[in-house]
Amino acid sequence: MCGIIGCNGVEAAVPVLINGLERMEYRGYDSSGIAVLSQGKIITEKKKGRVAALVKRLEQSTNLDAQIGIGHTRWATHGKPSDENAHPHQSGKFTLVHNGIIENHAELKEQYLKLTKTKSDTDTEIAVHLLNRFYSDNCLEAIAHTVRLLKGSFALAVICEDEPDRLFCVRQASPLVVGIGDGTFAASDTSAISEKIHTLYRMNDGEIAVLSKDSIEFFDFGLNKITKTPDEFEKNSYTADKGNCEHFMLKEIYEQPEAIRKTVDAYLNENVFDLQLKIEKPERFYIVACGSAYHTGLVGRQVFERLTKIPVSVETASEFRYSRPLVNGNTPVIIISQSGETADSLAALREAKKRGAKTVSIVNVKESSIASESDFVLLTKAGPEIAVATTKAYGAQLAALYLLGIYFAEAFGTADKNELEKMKKALTELHKTVSAALGCEELIKEIAQRLKDIDRAYFIGRGLGFAAAAEGSLKLKEISYIHCEAYAAGEMKHGTISLIEKGTTVVAMNTQKELTHKLQSNIDEVRSRGARVIAVTSAESKIDADETITVPEVHPLFAVSTQIVPVQLLSYHIARLRGCDIDKPRNLAKSVTVE
Ligand code: AGP
Repeated sequence: MCGIIGCNGVEAAVPVLINGLERMEYRGYDSSGIAVLSQGKIITEKKKGRVAALVKRLEQSTNLDAQIGIGHTRWATHGKPSDENAHPHQSGKFTLVHNGIIENHAELKEQYLKLTKTKSDTDTEIAVHLLNRFYSDNCLEAIAHTVRLLKGSFALAVICEDEPDRLFCVRQASPLVVGIGDGTFAASDTSAISEKIHTLYRMNDGEIAVLSKDSIEFFDFGLNKITKTPDEFEKNSYTADKGNCEHFMLKEIYEQPEAIRKTVDAYLNENVFDLQLKIEKPERFYIVACGSAYHTGLVGRQVFERLTKIPVSVETASEFRYSRPLVNGNTPVIIISQSGETADSLAALREAKKRGAKTVSIVNVKESSIASESDFVLLTKAGPEIAVATTKAYGAQLAALYLLGIYFAEAFGTADKNELEKMKKALTELHKTVSAALGCEELIKEIAQRLKDIDRAYFIGRGLGFAAAAEGSLKLKEISYIHCEAYAAGEMKHGTISLIEKGTTVVAMNTQKELTHKLQSNIDEVRSRGARVIAVTSAESKIDADETITVPEVHPLFAVSTQIVPVQLLSYHIARLRGCDIDKPRNLAKSVTVE
């Protein structure tokens, strides 16, 4: 999941490219590079490390005065992060950048490039050598010939010394948008160029775009001309500032209440749903997602089943897409994705549609692929989320699932009307309880001091508490690199308790008031074997643990929304004390657009 940027016909290409890379660095940040075409020659600068390292290198470069260029920020798939493996890659008169995976790169090398010496360990380099191999005097034809041979996922931006006035873009299973403003632009993510354009086109799979200085033509891979209508988009004012927070993650934890409030306000008026969401009472719901979004699905299942009495299957998208899912026209599929570009989730959406299912997506990016391909979109209102570890978008996804659960219960008449009214009232107040939960931060800082050197932790919970434990475990591990596991509390004694020894850290999430005493037994079981237990509970559910963090009472079905807050803060402060790169953790990227 890399970031691609391109521009043509601008006054100065380098600052446009760098600005675009800085806005997309969260997509991948192990190396970056740019290539500009000036006086008939392509000049390339690329560097391992963050975009800042590239900017430093560019300070020593000269003759970079150009109006056309491409750029790339990388999340390594083939070939370790290094200067040589960084994009752009060059062959003959061509230079290109790529996001995705060319799955048949080895076969293509064997078949067409046996004698070609490669400079990198990347799959991408094969593509640029093929361009050079098939090129005689027409770039577009060489590009079409090449992309018809590629298998896998590839968003490409290509420049050629023989055609200095044209920038070529290709989209196949990796996101790419193009636009027109003062010049023409291409990017993996609308937010990177939205302030520079007045017209946006989201490219579809199988399309080639040819960007001249002030216009764009579209073709399919057979070079048949395509007419596209512009897509709507929002000029999001990209706030690169962290406010008075040290990291985006902390800023976004504190933005979580507002993200929830805006999402609830946008959809509590059920007319919005009535107008657009026509779903008959199904035999089963499917909720499909990855990572933290999958963890919200675990909450969604319990909310939906409680309110609609309809069974719900929750699946990770990478498993769902290859499991021959028993999906049909009577099993709506709900795809949850902050970015709306996660490759596995997009593929799962397409698989569900192929099998005749109605699809509903809960996304945070309006112009995303998942939003555009779903039958119905519930747009969370979290705003741009920059930290790789999701917090406010996760909180908004939970609110969206509560809204959908209430909507379906009303539509199908499966829940007590008074109960639903109480839930709606609680939903309009939820942002206040989440905001109040932030009040535990000083206590969290003290606990983090005691936990900063641990090498592992276990998160346990019952019912919704397990869903909270799963998210807490992911939060801590992905930003602090501490090994964490989440367990249904009742499961610990079936094996994992063998790992508990003196001083082992266990975090217990007590979301189910009616199961408090059961969870207390599980806490006592691990404490009697030496564990140090930190419990998160609400004011009315007393728990005996080594440390207890109490959050405000909230509707039982919404407990995860408040209990996750101390765990997000604990993960943040432990990672901060460990000196970790909190907003851009190693090996991760914000939008996972490869399988
Ligand atoms: C969450 O902190 C992680 N960064 C990751 O698990 C993420 O939730 C997952 O990749 C799904 O992303 P999406 O919501 O954009 O589809």
